[in-house]
Amino acid sequence: MVTPGGDAPGMNAAIRAVTRIAHSRGLQIIGFERGWDGLLTNRHQHLTPRSVGGIIQLGGTMLHTSRCPEFKRPENVKRAAEILAANKVDGLVVIGGDGSFKGALDLSRESSTLMVGIPATIDNDVYGTDETIGFDTAVNTAVASIDKIRDTAISHERIFIVEVMGRQRGFLALEVGLSVGAEVILIPEHECAIDQVVEVLKRNAQKGKRAGIIVAAEGVGDTRKIAEEIAKKTDFEVRLSIVGYAQRGGSPTARSRLLASLFAEKAVDLLVQGQGNRVVGLQNGVVTSVELKETCEKEKPLDLRLLELAEMLSI
Ligand code: F6P
Repeated sequence: MVTPGGDAPGMNAAIRAVTRIAHSRGLQIIGFERGWDGLLTNRHQHLTPRSVGGIIQLGGTMLHTSRCPEFKRPENVKRAAEILAANKVDGLVVIGGDGSFKGALDLSRESSTLMVGIPATIDNDVYGTDETIGFDTAVNTAVASIDKIRDTAISHERIFIVEVMGRQRGFLALEVGLSVGAEVILIPEHECAIDQVVEVLKRNAQKGKRAGIIVAAEGVGDTRKIAEEIAKKTDFEVRLSIVGYAQRGGSPTARSRLLASLFAEKAVDLLVQGQGNRVVGLQNGVVTSVELKETCEKEKPLDLRLLELAEMLSI
């Protein structure tokens, strides 16, 4: 097992479930530490049903992680394949996001070890699954924080821009925005000029609504500048609040833990059946899997109708 890239709440629940299910099938399990870095340096630990006890409720990853840009270099991928072979690893469960799966795909080209991915990222941007482990937790963390911010927005009649994570995609911002009743949602997938935002705010003011929440994904650009521009073009007091890394940590919700257990079972099943190069996922309520290559090459579609729904609801 390995948990590369950004951590996500529920990764520990997945480590626990993979270990215990694999153990019950008579397999031995090791966990590489610090993501791909541990694979390059052969830093690993033996995992047993007992050693993964008491972690289901913990955020982060007990295996630790790192961003490991060196893993993109072909000579390092070859080295990782040699380390897998030296440790007699028949199957590697990669718990992470799209970047981790791209690494797994590169590795699969050099190694005979079977690779199976378990999607775990707060961004929910993995093709082939409706939901990733950690997404629900991150949504709820951001919602709890914005509900508090709304109190000040209303008392002071201010506009708040609240930046949530998501450098590339807006799944998190969209779901958070809908859940807090945001007046405006800004996501990278949908261009929205400042003047349009100003228009909405002015229209709201005419209707007597002088407080507002704008949920913006990190990927839409410099939110400080956006706040300044809106302030310049209106008579509103505008404040910026960044939810930040609180979204990546904390105790996973029941939903994130449940997904971790379901995905782990499917991942171990695939490996036991000798099926590699796949990523497990949830599609229309059913736990299934898609090809690793497909996950890496395709972009998960985002339902832009949800933006219209949010707009309709925030009158
Ligand atoms: O992929 C998860 C994520 O939190 C993104 O939402 C964010 O853009 C990125 O990771 C930040 O990564 P890092 O912590 O490595 O700067």
